[in-house]
Amino acid sequence: MSNYHIKHLEEYYKVYRKSVREPEVFWEEIAEEHFSWHKKWDKVLEWDFKKPEIKWYQGAKLNITENCIDRHLRTKGDKVAILFEPNNPEEEAQHITYHQLHERVNKFANVLKNEGIKKGDRVCIYLPMIPELAVSLLACARIGAIHSVVFAGFSATALSTRINDSDCKVVITSDGSFRGNKTIDLKGIVDEALEDCPGVHSVLVVNRIDSEITMKEGRDKLLQPLLDNASSHCEPEIMDAEDPLFILYTSGSTGKPKGMVHTTAGYMVYTAYTFKNVFNYKDDDIYWCTADIGWITGHSYIVYGPLANGATTVMFEGVPSHPDYGRFWEVVEKHKITQFYTAPTAIRALAKEKLEYIDKYDLSSLKVLGSVGEPINEEAWHWYNDNIGKKKSPIVDTWWQTETGGILISPIPYVTPTIPTYATLPLPGIQPCLMDENGEEIKGKQVDGRLCIKYPWPSIARTIWGNHQRYKETYFSTYENNYFTGDGALRDTVGYYRITGRVDDVIIVSGHNLGTAPIEDAINEHPAVAESAIVGFPHDVKGNALYGYVILKETGEGRLHENLRKEINQMITEHIGPIAKLDKIQFTPGLPKTRSGKIMRRILRKIACNETDNLGDTSTLLNPEVVQTIIDNSF
Ligand code: WTA
Repeated sequence: MSNYHIKHLEEYYKVYRKSVREPEVFWEEIAEEHFSWHKKWDKVLEWDFKKPEIKWYQGAKLNITENCIDRHLRTKGDKVAILFEPNNPEEEAQHITYHQLHERVNKFANVLKNEGIKKGDRVCIYLPMIPELAVSLLACARIGAIHSVVFAGFSATALSTRINDSDCKVVITSDGSFRGNKTIDLKGIVDEALEDCPGVHSVLVVNRIDSEITMKEGRDKLLQPLLDNASSHCEPEIMDAEDPLFILYTSGSTGKPKGMVHTTAGYMVYTAYTFKNVFNYKDDDIYWCTADIGWITGHSYIVYGPLANGATTVMFEGVPSHPDYGRFWEVVEKHKITQFYTAPTAIRALAKEKLEYIDKYDLSSLKVLGSVGEPINEEAWHWYNDNIGKKKSPIVDTWWQTETGGILISPIPYVTPTIPTYATLPLPGIQPCLMDENGEEIKGKQVDGRLCIKYPWPSIARTIWGNHQRYKETYFSTYENNYFTGDGALRDTVGYYRITGRVDDVIIVSGHNLGTAPIEDAINEHPAVAESAIVGFPHDVKGNALYGYVILKETGEGRLHENLRKEINQMITEHIGPIAKLDKIQFTPGLPKTRSGKIMRRILRKIACNETDNLGDTSTLLNPEVVQTIIDNSF
């Protein structure tokens, strides 16, 4: 028997050792005992980090939706699969059972088929957090289409770049979305994006906000009538283990976003296994992850991981501040949430508000609290532990990435003793290591370095869509034979890991990864801008905020700086989305550059953080005099 559910620390160590000693036996047992297959694999793992090439469960045949839905019908058909809590607390919640989910996914899958979508085709999904979002992912998976979800806060330009990169044929969207007391015109954004997307032949529109929708003849269709006429039986497409399941874009430090490709069997096994253990999931639990399905957290731990375990997973359409700052806690009480999984930025925002917002509600159903997306600072950890968990619910500080598909380093609740700010121990199957700048592994305890993973796990992304070379360069070339995470970490005396943050030019703002280069490119599009550089600086709610240094062209110099700041942020909103707006913009006559012309961001970062006492070595600068000018004019 495999150790599917780890219950105490000794067992963790035993299972972990087995997973390192005999990884293939370990992952074979789990796959064998907990999933349904049309055909078992010929080989558990084949890998080569040099090429790089990674294949799990080769030869196996399956459909992930049968594992997430069909196989639960006999025993759990009337159990709630998706519990939808709308933006407006006055609107009734929806309880969608496994039977109902089955019917909705089958109908939706048939609609996609009728649109000509076949196995391997790409479908772009640009929807708010409504049930159709989860259903559309599963409908794609039912017929073997590859879904590419784009977070519905991205701009038209960002959307069209993503649609074109993976050559999507269909876009699924809604008339609009509710966010707090605002509505957002999603269909309008899609229309604008599609002006640059000749490959899209149809747009399926969900009616969510009852707004006037302009429909383009021959391209746009309302979804509901199509669903009403669709058959509720759709034979699942039998997929190979390594067939792509989805593409999800993530920012890189340079260039355009990277379409990370996740495949079917390994992703399913790993997200299901980690969901069970990291959230100590038990049959009657009501699990709530507040992330958006537009990010990997939502894919793996709202949709696939929970449903593969036959769990009840909550989808929340709203925001934590509407109608007031008690909204999360009201939902916890109302649905008797047992696991609550959120981001440090949300915790910090709520910690600023009065405790009365919490005290009004009964949170005694909670058993496990989770955190994800960025390092959780000590103060936020204690606030979460004291006021939400009442010191009774363990906090799982889960470290992972879009690229890793599932959680890699995390406490197991009621098993791993926790320490604030530590993601603690690697989960079974995960072999982390720390590297120095020369590519040597740093062994031992109480050391820090760059975090790498030595050995493949089932849900590692297999490639970047259309650019395997970039996949190789980004993740497998910095440290030979290792997957490089881009994060720094330290390992303490008991082997616990603490993630210290990005070591590349990715900045995490409110839990969203933002590459500096795409933002700089957006700013440089402004006619008055000659050059720009972005760095992060600490922010008490967002974790990091963005500080931009901008050199104006001569023609721009007479202009009012306040207006220019607004226009620059407008430019960023149009190219990327409001999440990438700058908090501070400093106009400067120059930027510190090395003799080879590279901007020395280290110095700019220190100035933005007000740490100008020790700027380090500036002797290699071409223009050292500019540094003082920048300091004198900084915020
Ligand atoms: C950061 C989110 C510290 C990290 C699942 C990583 C974290 C990046 C943690 C991936 C954590 C995520 N502690 N840092 N618990 N979780 N990160 O792709 O820098 O949106 O590389 O995936 O977020 O962000 P992504």
